[in-house]
Amino acid sequence: MRRVIIDTDPGTDDALALLMALNCPDLLIEGITTVGGNATLAQTTQNALRLVDHVASGRDVPVAVGADQPARGSFSYAYHVHGTDGLGVDLPSTARKPQRADAIEFIRDRTLAAPGRIAVIALGPLTNLAAALDGRPDVAKAISEIVVMGGAVEMPGNITSHAEFNIYEDPWSANAVCASGVPVTLVGLDVTHKTSMHRDGGPRWFEGTSRSAQLGNRILSSSFRERADVQDFYLHDPLAVAAAIEPELLTYRRAQVEVVTDGEERGRTVASFRDGSVQVALGVDVGGAVEVVRTLISK
Ligand code: BDR
Ligand code: CA
Repeated sequence: MRRVIIDTDPGTDDALALLMALNCPDLLIEGITTVGGNATLAQTTQNALRLVDHVASGRDVPVAVGADQPARGSFSYAYHVHGTDGLGVDLPSTARKPQRADAIEFIRDRTLAAPGRIAVIALGPLTNLAAALDGRPDVAKAISEIVVMGGAVEMPGNITSHAEFNIYEDPWSANAVCASGVPVTLVGLDVTHKTSMHRDGGPRWFEGTSRSAQLGNRILSSSFRERADVQDFYLHDPLAVAAAIEPELLTYRRAQVEVVTDGEERGRTVASFRDGSVQVALGVDVGGAVEVVRTLISK
């Protein structure tokens, strides 16, 4: 079993990614850390707690609260994509409470307790991770890998023509994570824009009657209903989880990656393809990856 912490800002596609991870027999979720991004931190945390309760009520999955703002400035939120509540569907309220430890302490404590054995799957702005790594080479050494949904290396961005949303929201933290020396896998738009659920595949994109399948179908239905002009729901965050489970579904090039922090190109991920601590995903087995997403959420 692969031990992982999932750092996330749910978020419709984050929610699908969490469903996959919770249903995957090969992943042991050490905990979920939340960050603002798609919606406010209060909302993304509530969404994470409710989602876990809804599909994994008997399980102890710690949720730790992270950053409500990026390293500088403030988050811009993606309400136009994810709805003002971040999910677009109602989930029953929950008595589940976040951990006493915040996300930074949680990431540090867990990874230091099992050096080299825990990976982080990062599905939102990288604020929590950069803060956990700041001035802590011991933590950098302890994290086995960071699989990031973020970046656009060989194609235009989705929030500006240069930048992908997660990186744009906190380019300072993204830069710090890429420079930390921790092995980073960048699953960006270069591959996530190749994997999607098409509007015509609904309303039963996921099969069966499990809570997970039903919730996945509700999220997709709501998202397509709210965005009449959109034909494809990109599997951004789900593809990062798929890459953590089956890395061979993607092909990579090793690089040093720098993130532009200011000016018109803010958030641009610039890769120099030479030996470095980052591997940039540039190719994907589309059928295989979509099948992994479908199968896990249908469980
Ligand atoms: C990323 O931005 C967010 O809106 C999604 O949840 C995903 O993590 C895609 O650019
Ligand atoms: Ca996300």
